Amino acid sequence: MSYGLLKGKRGIIFGALDENSIAWKVALKAKEEGATFTLTNAPIAMRLGEIKKLAEECQAEVITADATSTEDLENLITKSIEVLGGKIDFILHSIGMSPNIRKDKEYGDLNYEWYLKTLDVSALSFHKIMQVAEKKDAINEYGSILALSYIAAQRVMPGYSDMADAKATLESIARSYGYRYGKLKNVRVNTISQSPTLTTAGKGIDGFDVFLNFAEDISPLGNASAEECADYCIVMFSDLTKKVTMQNLMHDGGFSSTTISETIIDKFYSVKK
Ligand SMILES: NC(=O)c1ccc[n+]([C@@H]2O[C@H](COP(=O)([O-])OP(=O)(O)OC[C@H]3O[C@@H](n4cnc5c(N)ncnc54)[C@H](O)[C@@H]3O)[C@@H](O)[C@H]2O)c1
Repeated sequence: MSYGLLKGKRGIIFGALDENSIAWKVALKAKEEGATFTLTNAPIAMRLGEIKKLAEECQAEVITADATSTEDLENLITKSIEVLGGKIDFILHSIGMSPNIRKDKEYGDLNYEWYLKTLDVSALSFHKIMQVAEKKDAINEYGSILALSYIAAQRVMPGYSDMADAKATLESIARSYGYRYGKLKNVRVNTISQSPTLTTAGKGIDGFDVFLNFAEDISPLGNASAEECADYCIVMFSDLTKKVTMQNLMHDGGFSSTTISETIIDKFYSVKK
C-alpha cells in the first residue's frame, strides 16, 4: 500500500547489487511512495548487470560511482541533480565490503592495506558523500541522509572482523556530520542498525546462518527483513521524521535490548537433557 510519503522527493540510492540487496528493496518502495531517484554502484557491480533491471522497473538512471572516489561522487551528484531536475532530498548509503573477511583473515592476522580498504569503502565513503554534497550545496533543507549499520559496532560478533570497526566509524561519522549538516542546512543524518539479513554482504560472514537463527530466537519480534528495513528507510526519508538526526536507530525486532529469551533457554535445556 502506498502512502505517497516521498511524493516530489529526489534521491540517490547507493548499493543495489541484486534483488536481495537492502538497497534494491528501498528503491522499489521509494518508487512506490512517489520519489524519483538515481541508482548508483561501483563499476564492478555494474558488470553483474542486475541493476539495469531495477533501473527499468523504477524508471531510474544508473550512474556508476566508486564510493571511495571523490571525483566519481562529484560526477554522480552533479549528474543526479541534472537528471532529477533539482536538489536532492534523500541519500541511502547501503555499502559494505571487507577484503579481510572475503579472504578469511582473522582479526589477529589482518592485512592492514585491506583493513584501510574496508574502512574506506564501508565508512569513509559516507563522509565523502556528505562532504561532496555539502560543497556542491546539493541537499534541500530537511533532506535526509541514511547509512545502514550493524550491532557489531557496539557488541562483539566473532567473524565480523574489521567490519565492526568500520561500522563504529560509520555511526560516529553520522553523529559528527549530522551535527554539522544540521547546523548548516537543517539536513538530517542517521544510521539504521539492521538485523542480520540474507544478502551477498551478509552471506560473506563466517557462521552467518547460525547467527541469523540465534538472533531470530532472541528477538521478541523476530529478525527484521530487508523489506521491513526498506519501510523504515522510507519513513526516515519522509517529512514525518524531520527532527530525527545523529541517531543510530535499532531495527532489529528488539534483539539489542534482550539478554536471553525463553526460546534459547528451552533449546539449552533440551540439549542438557
Ligand atoms: N545483510 C546483513 O545482514 C546486514 C545487516 C546490517 C547491516 N547491513 C548493511 O547493509 C548495507 C547493504 O548491504 P546488503 O546486506 O544489502 O548487501 P549487498 O551485498 O547487496 O550490498 C552491499 C553493496 O555495497 C556495494 N559496494 C561495495 N564496494 C563499493 C564501492 N567501492 N563503491 C560503491 N558501492 C560499493 C556493493 O556493490 C553492493 O551493492 C551494508 O552497509 C551492510 O553492512 C547488512
